[in-house]
Amino acid sequence: MHHQWLLLAACFWVIFMFMVASKFITLTFKDPDGYSAKQEFLFLTTVPEAGRLREEKHFAEDPKPTGKVAPSSQLVAPLVYVERLELIRNVCRDEALKNLSHTPVSKFVLDRIFVCDKHKILFCQTPKVGNTQWKKVLIVLNGAFPAIGEIPESVVHDHEKNGLPRLSSFSQAEIQKRLKTYFKFFIVRDPFERLISAFKDKFVHNPRFEPWYRHEIAPGIIRKYRKNRTETRGIQFEDFVRYLGDPNHRWLDLQFGDHIIHWVTYVELCAPCEIKYSVIGHHETLEEDAPYILREAGIDHLVSYPAIPPGITAYNRTKVERYFLGISKRDIRRLYARFEGDFKLFGYQKPDFLLN
Ligand SMILES: *[C@@H]1O[C@H](CO)[C@@H](O)[C@H](O)[C@H]1NC(C)=O
Ligand SMILES: *[C@@H]1O[C@H](CO)[C@@H](O)[C@H](O)[C@H]1NC(C)=O
Ligand SMILES: *[C@@H]1O[C@H](CO)[C@@H](O)[C@H](O)[C@H]1NC(C)=O
Repeated sequence: MHHQWLLLAACFWVIFMFMVASKFITLTFKDPDGYSAKQEFLFLTTVPEAGRLREEKHFAEDPKPTGKVAPSSQLVAPLVYVERLELIRNVCRDEALKNLSHTPVSKFVLDRIFVCDKHKILFCQTPKVGNTQWKKVLIVLNGAFPAIGEIPESVVHDHEKNGLPRLSSFSQAEIQKRLKTYFKFFIVRDPFERLISAFKDKFVHNPRFEPWYRHEIAPGIIRKYRKNRTETRGIQFEDFVRYLGDPNHRWLDLQFGDHIIHWVTYVELCAPCEIKYSVIGHHETLEEDAPYILREAGIDHLVSYPAIPPGITAYNRTKVERYFLGISKRDIRRLYARFEGDFKLFGYQKPDFLLN
């Protein structure tokens, strides 16, 4: 018994050291001038620190200043971020999930990715997870506005005026160059909570003036997916679930155009198996993930992510249960069948409490 544990620990250590080493090597290639011998020392001293973190499952405090070593730059990714990337690599290799994890890097995907050339950053937009804030951060970095507070709301999503180009606007060679060398990230959250959030935002509250969701898209969904033909209320979450879980949903998707970005899978939006992202942020831990992303992208001294009101990012099972109440198991299972790739790739637990 003792033996096995020792062996396991040794394996972990080897894998961990390998990841640390490969990380260090890629960093060095990215910016040969930026990492001096001094930082190599920092790299060595922070290793045990990061090793400890895995067990305690929380995030790094700044490494203690040791002598003259600058504490600000962290060369070792806390293991949680390394594990997220590792999970994606493994799930991408899973043949059984191939259809749910792979997608071509099409114009649709390249349209989702925003470019900051000045700091070599690519950001894939995944609506309903604080994307507006990230876009504002990048708009400021690109220089169109001096501060986040000075960007008018009307300009954030207006790509004529906000100085935030889409990756699709570059030539094929320029696209490939950026995909290969830039820092790339996006943010995810629990897939079902995201759908609830999209439903509320687009069909219930509709805070931005976007009448087409209620007046064109909702009637289209009701016409095809409402079970009870005598029911005349506006779109219900059940109608939405039946549409999303239908294996033939593409027929309607085509009519809805780019509005589907609010509910198609993260796989379809960002192609995480085809594009090698540098960091995946989780909405549920955004308070730690946002500063980490800024640090890794090398822009933490230039911008900060706006304060996150406490409690809004946490997963709320009660809310999820309430929304799915009364929806048939068959419909929920079909929905899960479509979003299984997102659950598995990003490490979200299968919602057995809804499926069984
Ligand atoms: C995957 O998709 C292809 C093409 O769309 C289809 O022919 C195949 O049956 C799918 N495989 C699975 C396991 O769903
Ligand atoms: C269908 O909807 C109508 C109107 O809301 C309702 O009175 C009726 O009970 C519903 N039928 C079923 C089977 O749910
Ligand atoms: C979770 O959602 C329920 C139902 O929407 C709500 O009443 C509750 O306040 C939420 N809990 C938290 C911690 O936000």
